Order: sequence, then structure tokens, then C-alpha cells
Amino acid sequence: MQFFIDTGNLKEIEALVPLGIVDGITTNPSLLAKEVAEPRAHLKRICELVQGPVSAEVVATDAEGMVREGRELAAIDEHIVIKVPFTKDGVKACRTLAGEGYRVNVTLVFSPTQALMAAKVGAAYVSPFVGRLDDIATPGMRLVEEIVDIFENYEFGTQVLVASVRSPTHVVEAARMGADVCTCPAAVLEAMFKHPLTDIGLERFLKDWAKAQEALAAKG
Ligand code: E4P
Repeated sequence: MQFFIDTGNLKEIEALVPLGIVDGITTNPSLLAKEVAEPRAHLKRICELVQGPVSAEVVATDAEGMVREGRELAAIDEHIVIKVPFTKDGVKACRTLAGEGYRVNVTLVFSPTQALMAAKVGAAYVSPFVGRLDDIATPGMRLVEEIVDIFENYEFGTQVLVASVRSPTHVVEAARMGADVCTCPAAVLEAMFKHPLTDIGLERFLKDWAKAQEALAAKG
């Protein structure tokens, strides 16, 4: 399973990319709005840092506008994936853009039928939002399970990108279900590095080693 970071923040990207676990980035208008930067230059910098797929979302709501904006976003860098919302216009725009060879991430997916329609029009990724479903007492991961099951019956070439991730538990479940990608806030990836037994174990190893060195030095 690929790990993307769900962020528009350069510091978070710069901290996590060198670890070698980051395959790509997803942004959205809310995330980019937090950064005080010219959006095109900012997206270009993100692409340079990650050297993998970077989802950049259109803000037009009509199909024609989405296609125009999508082409402009894709011109920023070869790593840009055009993100469109799942609406009738988004589906129409996805069909046009995918037909022109662009990679499209259909976002704001909340049902298996939406995912199926996005796949039919050539989406490279569909993004089910698990956390936002959990927020309204609907099991988000159940949606991922259904989409993965459905896609296994066909040969769409559309990847399931688990989005709106809130905790490492979502990541574990996504991997068990065979999702292609999980996009996580930096805090979730940071949390995945932490285990108290790792810290305690390392401290003990180093202490024992230091003690042995001291004993050796004392012997002369
Ligand atoms: C995905 O591409 C979206 O940017 C994101 O995962 C939305 O997550 P949120 O529900 O935490 O805003």
C-alpha cells in the first residue's frame, strides 16, 4: 500500500519525505488555504520535494471550467494529478481529462456507486472519505471494503485512495482490505512511528552496551 501525506505544508513534507515512506501527496483547497503562498509555485515546490503523485484540486464547479483548470494544474508539473469532486460535472470533466491522458483523482466519494461511476469514466484514483463518514456514525472503512470488493470484479485500473484518515487504525484496516493508497495527515504518520516498547527496548540496549564498555575500560 502506498502512503501519501494529506497536507499542503512544506515543513511536514520536508520532515517526512527523507524517511523514504512517502509515495505522494494529496492537497485540497482547505489545506492549501492554510499556506500563505502563491498556489502554483507552492504546488511546484511540493512536486519537486516528493517526486511522486501530487493531487491538486480544481475549484471550478462546471465541467468546462474544471477541464480548463485541470489542464492548467497539470501544466505545473508532470507529477500533478487533477482532483475533481464527485458531481455530475466532475464525472464529465474526469471523462474528458482522462481521455486526454491526464490522471484524475475523483474526491469526496461517500458511496460505492459513486466510486463505480468514477472508475467507469477513467479515474486514476477514487477517494472515499472514511473519517467524515465515521463523524456521522457511518462506518467509513465499510465503504472502502465495498469499493475494493467491487473493483476486484473488473479491470478498471482505478486505485482506491483512502482519504479523511484520522488514526493509524484506519491505516491498518485499509492495508488489510487491500486499498492501493492511504493518504494520512502528518500527525497520523508520526503516530505510526511511536511505540513505547520500542523506546524502552532501545534505552535498555544502549544502557547495557554503555555498562559493558565501562566494565571493559575499567579492566584496562
Ligand atoms: C483527501 O484527499 C482529502 O484532502 C482529505 O483526506 C480530507 O480529509 P478531512 O476529512 O480530514 O478534511
